Amino acid sequence: MTYSKITGTGSYLPEKILTNKDMEKLVDTTDEWIRERTGIRQRHIAAEDETTCDLASHAALRAIEMAGKSSSDIDLVILATTTADKIFPGTACLLQKRLGVHGCPAFDVQAVCTGFVYALGIADKFIRAGEAKCALVVGSETLSRILDWNDRSTCVLFGDGAGAVVLEASAEPGILSTHLHADGSYEHLLHVPHGISSGYEQLKAGEAYVYMEGNAVFKMAVNKLGEIVDEALEANQVSKGDLDWLVPHQANSRIIEATARKLKMSMERVILTVSEHGNTSAASVPLALDTAVRDGRIKKGETLMLEAFGSGFTWGSALLQF
Ligand code: UT7
Repeated sequence: MTYSKITGTGSYLPEKILTNKDMEKLVDTTDEWIRERTGIRQRHIAAEDETTCDLASHAALRAIEMAGKSSSDIDLVILATTTADKIFPGTACLLQKRLGVHGCPAFDVQAVCTGFVYALGIADKFIRAGEAKCALVVGSETLSRILDWNDRSTCVLFGDGAGAVVLEASAEPGILSTHLHADGSYEHLLHVPHGISSGYEQLKAGEAYVYMEGNAVFKMAVNKLGEIVDEALEANQVSKGDLDWLVPHQANSRIIEATARKLKMSMERVILTVSEHGNTSAASVPLALDTAVRDGRIKKGETLMLEAFGSGFTWGSALLQF
């Protein structure tokens, strides 16, 4: 049986940092409110000339290097983003060009904060089907571009960044299963109300901003993430005690703590990076993963639960042996 296995991770955060104190100068908020309600201390913001593809390429090169591969080994590129460089072509194609990769499939996945888990699930299926041997899976966002910097209920929450993994065909277990879900009937609770085919005038005028009913999203996230971790454990007959690490979507430390409680995991076994970069949407899971791999917490052979929840609503998980 062929599995897909993560053999390299990488991430990148733009240089510019906005602390909570900086946010106090922009909107009516306090460092205390942001830390207590979300766990966020600071967020990174892309420079004016820095794009989603730029962030993605730094993260991708680091993952390729860790895997001991070169760009020419890559035979599939999947990039999860909500903040593409261009309307077309897809940012995955721009990244492919940047890396000097030619001919293999390259496409974007738009599942907002769950985008990376979706991309990982798709890449896993390509590899299991024998259609790819060495996939590059990236989550990259410049969400700062679609924030209303006058809206305190959203602008303090998000940041820019990128994370990537190299996923290779392997005879040893790697990804055990992925579980992907969506329910579009909740669109109105978390969305940017304008786009190309609808509200293009507002998009052109720079008025297309993130809108969120935070409290309703919070409740749904806790509920769905609780369900999905059970689904992944049951599908593999793995018990809660067998999990070494939870690598969750980094939106709010209170949501993460609720999932950890459900799994009966101590917070010492949970990778928490939201304080350092806020919610980076599709980038947040691979950013957290890379952080913990590089600081030596996550080791080869350990069992990991990755999970995410986002606009759509979309939600998903991946259970894997690292
Ligand atoms: O990644 C996709 C998934 N996204 C998420 O998972 C985010 C989910 N939601 C959340 O993380 C939380 O709901 C928030 C952090 C967005 C908000 O926390 P909350 O505890 O749910 O607060 P709330 O929305 O119920 O608002 C409480 C109060 C309100 O004031 P009133 O009406 O009680 O007087 C808000 O106006 O907090 C106020 N508020 C703020 N105050 C200071 C909202 N934003 C701020 C702010 N600073 N930045």
